[in-house]
Amino acid sequence: MNNMLTDHYGRAITSLRISITRKCNLNCIYCHGEGENGTSGREISIDTIAKIVTAAAEYSVTKVKFSGGEPLMRNDFEEILAALPPLKDISATTNGVLLSRRAALLAESGLDRVNISLPSLDEEHYKRITGSVALPRVLDGLDAAVDAGLTPVKINMVLLKGINVNEIDDAIHFAAKYDGNVILQLIELMNFKNTGQYTVDINSIEKMLESKAACVRERELHRRKKYFIDGVEVELVRPIDNSKFCANCNRLRVTSSGKLKACLMRNDNLIDIKEGAEVSEIKELLRKAVELREPYCKDNAPF
Ligand code: 5AD
Repeated sequence: MNNMLTDHYGRAITSLRISITRKCNLNCIYCHGEGENGTSGREISIDTIAKIVTAAAEYSVTKVKFSGGEPLMRNDFEEILAALPPLKDISATTNGVLLSRRAALLAESGLDRVNISLPSLDEEHYKRITGSVALPRVLDGLDAAVDAGLTPVKINMVLLKGINVNEIDDAIHFAAKYDGNVILQLIELMNFKNTGQYTVDINSIEKMLESKAACVRERELHRRKKYFIDGVEVELVRPIDNSKFCANCNRLRVTSSGKLKACLMRNDNLIDIKEGAEVSEIKELLRKAVELREPYCKDNAPF
């Protein structure tokens, strides 16, 4: 299709990941901060976000995921959602701390579903990982999200050796209580903050999941494997040294200060969208950003 945003490697862009703030109320030991570096600049405005999404939707983009920092640190998140054109899938990745009070309103404003960062169900471990005692609030937030229909709620559990890697079974049992409304995503740690000591052997996790699963499937996105264990969907996200991950990447990022960013791992090819830019200009910039897309990991990639 002519109207698609397709890069030189044949990868069509179907999803945007928009960071709306760098502020966060947690301090996770592993946080990649969506790959943004330098000091935080201006925060992208509601109007510019709506225009970027409108421009992207005029191409092939059908999905938007909001992230931060913590997106709920923006009090106008509901207004941002309300300003968007209709899309197939609007989601957010949140730490859940501020979610319980806002879940219903977010759903009313157009949010379809949430991912909740929940690296441990153990209060001590949660504190060690996030620096916060907010676990009970996060669990309330998760319940509120399920009640508000922000489903399927995906739990993001970054695996950390010596902290939470023995808690996978607990997490599966926890998710099982939600009757298919909660999916567990186990995420391989990316070493952004000197966290090499916590790196987990993902092959052994994969084997363990395989041995427990009633059924295994592969998602097209990033070729992620999905295991069905005790009635729970468990996804394993392996971003490291995974050329398939990059080969299937369909997303373009927008930084909290309004720059188009082709890859989490790179900051040398950002394209600035000025406040006040019109949809037609943004469409051109989207084209340029997609031109610059290069898979970060190319080994054996099927290009
Ligand atoms: N490695 C893997 N995943 C990470 N996330 C944040 N930092 C890392 C990292 N270093 C994921 C968490 C969080 C989402 C915003 O990004 O799952 O939920």
